[in-house]
Amino acid sequence: MHLPHLLGIEGLSRDQIVQLLDTAEEMVKVRQREMKKIPALRGVTIVNAFFEDSTRTKMSFDLAAKSLSADTMAFASKGSSTAKGESLRDTVRTIAALGVDGFVIRHHASGAPKLAMEWTGLPVLNAGDGTHEHPTQALLDAFAMRAALGPLEGKHVAIVGDLLHSRVVRSNLLCLRALDVQVTLVAPPTLMPPGIESWAARDGFAITYDLDEVISRVDSLMMLRVQRERMFGAFFPTECEYTHAYGLTRERLEVLQDHTVICHPGPMNRGLEISPEAADHARSLILEQVNAGVAVRMAALYHIFSGEGSSA
Ligand code: NCD
Repeated sequence: MHLPHLLGIEGLSRDQIVQLLDTAEEMVKVRQREMKKIPALRGVTIVNAFFEDSTRTKMSFDLAAKSLSADTMAFASKGSSTAKGESLRDTVRTIAALGVDGFVIRHHASGAPKLAMEWTGLPVLNAGDGTHEHPTQALLDAFAMRAALGPLEGKHVAIVGDLLHSRVVRSNLLCLRALDVQVTLVAPPTLMPPGIESWAARDGFAITYDLDEVISRVDSLMMLRVQRERMFGAFFPTECEYTHAYGLTRERLEVLQDHTVICHPGPMNRGLEISPEAADHARSLILEQVNAGVAVRMAALYHIFSGEGSSA
């Protein structure tokens, strides 16, 4: 399977998603070997261009590329000519002119990775753009949940919290729907994206404002970060009230089914959307999600940049 780029889950077929997850399983085996890398992308140079903060996504893309023997270069807008006012177009065209093979891009503007691809003609992997998509996050979430719960078809996942500002929820909705997962979105009305009702009706997912109504029925609870950096108004009365209504508190852990797993894409606001007891719980997949990120990103890079990937 050859992929030309990974701008979003949108545009991927169910088979492509499953193939990416299956390739990621092979990549996990590579990462478990004593020699943790394969030569698949030797001679390929990938630029990690992060115009927005990141810890796990940036490091994981870097490790994934290195595990495939690609060369990586890091671009950080701080300390670059972007700080002098150079435009995104000039920046990516300048980097492309160095002779690199592709980009991993995180940007605060929705659509920036697609523009960069059009401007450079090079493959781009979207590492999170504005409030639009974060495809590798959805793939790694599916991977970690599948590893813990078995086949995901028919499973029930609740995605809880700041849906309005979340690119993770958009990619997850598309990915989980393709995998026939039942999804319930949970948030206060102020943090539900506008138009979500018609999207839910069209794509068959549920919406509720009441976490306690759904929490005991789900196989996985995906808690999302309250994205204070994207909030320019008051979306809830106080943090304490948010936690009371929508946080995965110690008390709420009691009503989960025994097999229910807890996910969070990170970074966490401990004590706000998730309690320390939930984050560090035996059924928390949070570190498994981080670990899965390397294998999933290896799979994506492999299917985009490997010659073998084109004929597979
Ligand atoms: C997410 C993101 O950046 O969209 N984090 C991540 O990539 N692990 C979610 C978030 O920032 O809350």
